[in-house]
Amino acid sequence: MTERELTFIDLFCGIGSFHHSLSKLGMKCIFACDINEDCRNTYERNYGMRPAGDICKINIADVPSFDILCAGFPCQPFSVAGHHKGFEDSRGGMFFEVMRFVDHHTPSWIILENVAGLENHDGGKTLKRMIDMLEEKKYNVIKRVLVCSDYGIPQMRKRLFIIATNFKVTESVLNFEQIPSKSLTHYLNDGRSDNEKVIMKEKEIAYTIRCGGRYSNINDGHNWDGYYATKFSDPINEFVYRLSIKDCLKLQGFDENKFVLVGSDKAKWKMVGNTIPTNLTFLVGNSVRNLLLLSSQISKRGLINEEDNDNKIITKKIKIKDKD
Ligand SMILES: C[S@@+](CC[C@H](N)C(=O)[O-])C[C@H]1O[C@@H](n2cnc3c(N)ncnc32)[C@H](O)[C@@H]1O
Repeated sequence: MTERELTFIDLFCGIGSFHHSLSKLGMKCIFACDINEDCRNTYERNYGMRPAGDICKINIADVPSFDILCAGFPCQPFSVAGHHKGFEDSRGGMFFEVMRFVDHHTPSWIILENVAGLENHDGGKTLKRMIDMLEEKKYNVIKRVLVCSDYGIPQMRKRLFIIATNFKVTESVLNFEQIPSKSLTHYLNDGRSDNEKVIMKEKEIAYTIRCGGRYSNINDGHNWDGYYATKFSDPINEFVYRLSIKDCLKLQGFDENKFVLVGSDKAKWKMVGNTIPTNLTFLVGNSVRNLLLLSSQISKRGLINEEDNDNKIITKKIKIKDKD
């Protein structure tokens, strides 16, 4: 027996929510790709590895084998804010690119992430087709929509997570105990001097952070970045507080004082609006890691459920024993 680290790949990596969380959990990223140069520059700056570019141009045989495939594939074709074209949109077709990796590498664990709206896209047919494709390859598939504010960060963002594995799993492995969030006021003021502190007047939880559409009128249904507030130092005069890029990074679970977004302001807003809250990738990554360690020891016929899935947070490097 030899020992090796658990490994993952990060497809459509963006600014690396999966990388951020899975590396914290002791796993090693061995390949990432994103077509967007600002994302590649940001990823390299923060994680020290340069992602490859367009997934369509990747020769799969050049990608070494890995334990977990992570992919937050493009979501605009399925999102409420997008044009709903689904598979017909070239970005929706990116799911087939994920399947190219699945076909070649047959990873035992796959974590997919997308907008919650994918569940209802085309009356549920789009998601069903994706699940059917995975099941045809003998994967067991479970899914759940997770809400960021249920797990410690006050942002409304909902994300759909799909786990596919060639082990038997029950959906309860995606049941997580809720973690109360601080209010938006407390969360944003954390680490600020009294001069910078603001008191949000109405909202305890931030709207979903988006790529575009900032500066809508605060009473407009499209508003997501404007909040009635007063300054901590002047609790009388109300004004409209607009979230900054740093606020959004923090509300997506990144360390706003350490994480560096590389590119123009426009590019930074897009990257921060596209990413996945790291509290969610951490929870799901932790669950999969624990199941993976467990599954490497139990028979494929064993049923993995939440009782076996000990969600203890272990930050040291995890090693898995491989047969020589
Ligand atoms: C929803 S975002 C993923 C966000 C990412 N998971 C994160 O943590 O920041 C989708 C990403 O897919 C990338 N993308 C779109 N088409 C692509 C392609 N053909 N090849 C590689 N990446 C692509 C986009 O540039 C975008 O960063």
